[in-house]
Amino acid sequence: MLWRSLLLAAGAAIAPGVDAATLRFSCSQLVVERLDPIVNPGANPSPHLHQIVGGNAFNQTMDPSVHDLPSTATCTTCTPSEDLSNYWTATLFFRARNGTFHRVNTFGNELGYTQANGGQTVYYLSNGKVTAFKPGFRMTVGDPTFRSAQELSAKYKFLDFTCLQTPMTRGGQTLDFPKQPCPAGIMVSIRFPTCWDGRNLDSPDHQSHVAYPNNQNQCPSSHPVAIPQVFYETYWDTRPFNNLAEWPVDGSQPFVWSFGDKTGYGIHGDYVFGWKGDALQRAMDQNCNSDLFVNQINCPTLEVQSLQQANQCVKKTSVSENIDGWMTALPGANPIT
Ligand SMILES: *[C@@H]1O[C@H](CO)[C@@H](O)[C@H](O)[C@H]1NC(C)=O
Ligand SMILES: *[C@@H]1O[C@H](CO)[C@@H](O)[C@H](O)[C@H]1NC(C)=O
Repeated sequence: MLWRSLLLAAGAAIAPGVDAATLRFSCSQLVVERLDPIVNPGANPSPHLHQIVGGNAFNQTMDPSVHDLPSTATCTTCTPSEDLSNYWTATLFFRARNGTFHRVNTFGNELGYTQANGGQTVYYLSNGKVTAFKPGFRMTVGDPTFRSAQELSAKYKFLDFTCLQTPMTRGGQTLDFPKQPCPAGIMVSIRFPTCWDGRNLDSPDHQSHVAYPNNQNQCPSSHPVAIPQVFYETYWDTRPFNNLAEWPVDGSQPFVWSFGDKTGYGIHGDYVFGWKGDALQRAMDQNCNSDLFVNQINCPTLEVQSLQQANQCVKKTSVSENIDGWMTALPGANPIT
């Protein structure tokens, strides 16, 4: 039932007998730093802070013509050890009543990955035959400049927040930050489009080479190639910040994205494909899946490492700035809007 609701939430209603993969796994934290090789390649620092998971070849340039993740990375924080991709999102901050900021940590998804050192859960979903990404492929979803539900829902689908009453809470998603304290933290879900133009590994806005399918799950003729649905689920540990006495006097919610968004509508995610060889294609072709409540990938074709091994892959930050403790401004001094 839970799987069904997750899949429906993902817009991927699975009909019996249809090829379908539901590969789900943990990617522990690799590094938290102000780099963004897709949107601000070469910039150190980039404008806002990110939490990054995946292979340790992540760096500030990642020029697709020279940067080959599977041959450059020596470890990955994801449990499929052939996945040297990088996945990242902005980070959350708590703004206390006195106006100072504190970074919010991620924590291991309580559905199977409590031993993960933070990071996020990654899914690759398919409904029918899909074509895996090509080396050098990258994309983003969401727009950090958005501050309204109208903007967000006109352009994107399936970017939302869940106020966790318990780790099991599903449903009740919102497009903006939850307005009340969430006893078990805040889950952020980011799902990418599932149709590709079949030609471009990237595009100037990092988005227009992919598109959403129509309501019958058919890709448009401009983007005819069905690709796996990449889906991030991040558990943010807002639990230390649930004391209403520290929330704003006017009763508004206190969380801000690292780019200064106090609404949540600027929710976005970044992806750089980096699986070894045809490992992802094999996993999709073989309809691989995962058990929902334990760290178990049902996919004999994939090499898998333990959460403990995944936790050992870490990258030292290459940006010199403090991101911990109470601060008078966000890293990058992004204004709150
Ligand atoms: C990033 O990695 C690539 C490929 O390994 C390397 O050529 C480049 O020098 C690195 N960039 C930085 C700034 O470390
Ligand atoms: C601001 O508020 C936080 C949370 O109550 C507190 O821990 C911190 O010490 C305060 N900082 C200042 C400068 O008052």
